Amino acid sequence: MSLAVLSVASEAYPLIKTGGLGDVAGALPLALAAEGVQMRTLIPAYPAVRRAAQAAGMTVLDLPVGVADQAGGRGNLLAFNAHGLDWLALDIPHLFDRPGSPYLGPDGRDWPDNPQRFAALGRAAAGIGLQGVDGWKPQIVHAHDWQAGLAAAYLTYSGEPRPGTVFTVHNLAFAGKIPLAQRVPLHLPPEAATMDGLEFYGALSLLKSGLQFSDRITTVSPTYATEICTPEGGMGFDGLLRARGDAVSGVLNGIDIQAWNPATDPALSAAFDAKTLNKRAANKAALQARLGLAVEPNTLLFGVVSRLTWQKGLDLLLEVLPELIGMGAQLAMLGAGDRPLEDGFKSEAAANPGQIGVVVGYDEALAHMVQAGVDALLVPSRFEPCGLTQLCALRYGAIPVVARVGGLADTVIDANPAAIAAGAATGVQFSPITSMALTQAMGRTAKLYAQKTVWAKMQTNGLNADVSWRGPAQQYAALYRSILQAA
Ligand code: ADP
Ligand code: GLC
Repeated sequence: MSLAVLSVASEAYPLIKTGGLGDVAGALPLALAAEGVQMRTLIPAYPAVRRAAQAAGMTVLDLPVGVADQAGGRGNLLAFNAHGLDWLALDIPHLFDRPGSPYLGPDGRDWPDNPQRFAALGRAAAGIGLQGVDGWKPQIVHAHDWQAGLAAAYLTYSGEPRPGTVFTVHNLAFAGKIPLAQRVPLHLPPEAATMDGLEFYGALSLLKSGLQFSDRITTVSPTYATEICTPEGGMGFDGLLRARGDAVSGVLNGIDIQAWNPATDPALSAAFDAKTLNKRAANKAALQARLGLAVEPNTLLFGVVSRLTWQKGLDLLLEVLPELIGMGAQLAMLGAGDRPLEDGFKSEAAANPGQIGVVVGYDEALAHMVQAGVDALLVPSRFEPCGLTQLCALRYGAIPVVARVGGLADTVIDANPAAIAAGAATGVQFSPITSMALTQAMGRTAKLYAQKTVWAKMQTNGLNADVSWRGPAQQYAALYRSILQAA
């Protein structure tokens, strides 16, 4: 029997993406279709989403009742199909029709009315969950991260019979904190301001709403699911998460293996697969040329594709660049984020032409070129709920060199002697997450790179690993069904 699920997210590839959340929200519905789940995806109608809706011949629907009131009576839902997904775009122009980042204004800071903006998203999700839309009513509402967190509170506080609810934590670091005084304008009842509601260190947390009121909480890897239940990894939510007990679980992310397919990728200079890994050489040369690096086929080329933030640990890499240079290796970096990191890497590139190449910005095609061209991809994250770039690396024959944390620990098999002897290794893990351990990991990578047969076996293992959404989609479908059975 087909299962109706509403997915609620603040971004979804390919219409709008700032990071892995967008990838997941865009890919999961496609994989779930094969599991008998009919998913519709609710996202805000940012300008790019509106354009896609218009191009796809959208149907304009009324907003659910309470939502329209809260939005001052202005707005619609735009229903359309595009890229294989069934979209519902929340079109409230005074909240969402703004160019640029979905979250930040032109000054690079959060839009001051983000509480109102994402409350409207949660409110719309709850409205659709309770009233249905267009003759369709979800049996499950699946909300992602703090921006969609209020869906659970609005559903619960309505007091009406509600659909099942799943909340997925992609990043616990973003609590979605808003002042307590916002409770009234956001139509939340007085109990929302208590410990058993959304109260979090003297504020309201939209993330806490999802954790508190959802039938099941998932996060994006089993190891992160364990980490967030500890004081070290719980970001203040560990007590609540421990209290939720078995309701918390980890489902590993996949990647879209059509969009990330080295055999058909239009961004590459040369297509390749597990049997034609020698063709990667052309991609390496093209990447070296593009980033102004010396075009040297045998020089170990490290790569980075990342947001440049504290989470990603790239300040550690900046610290150890002299060691990387001393090893005679090269670095190809694509990233954007915190100014001091952007500036730090840019000035290292200027000081080390031919050896360090840096592109600051967001460039989907270049991200594919990096994965296809580098020998090893560095992911020194301090914490990482899942991480997708190491999965892309596996699929593109780049050896992931990762911090042993969160989803990185769950997806990369370290090239220790036992794993090499068993023919199972796919990458390099390091711990603790320090500049010294990172340097040692780079050194270990160089030694492996020199052993051509071992290296090639690791690459082939990566290309043969299943990084698709098939397994994860089966787990989500089973989770949805178990909620309905328990109800
Ligand atoms: P996070 O969501 O924490 O940023 P993930 O590894 O889960 O990290 O996902 C990051 C996604 O964003 C990947 O698809 C990656 O390829 C992409 N990405 C990150 N930075 C850039 C960039 N500067 N240009 C293009 N794509 C990027
Ligand atoms: C978050 C996490 C990242 C994860 C992504 C998708 O952005 O930082 O680890 O892969 O969400 O779940």
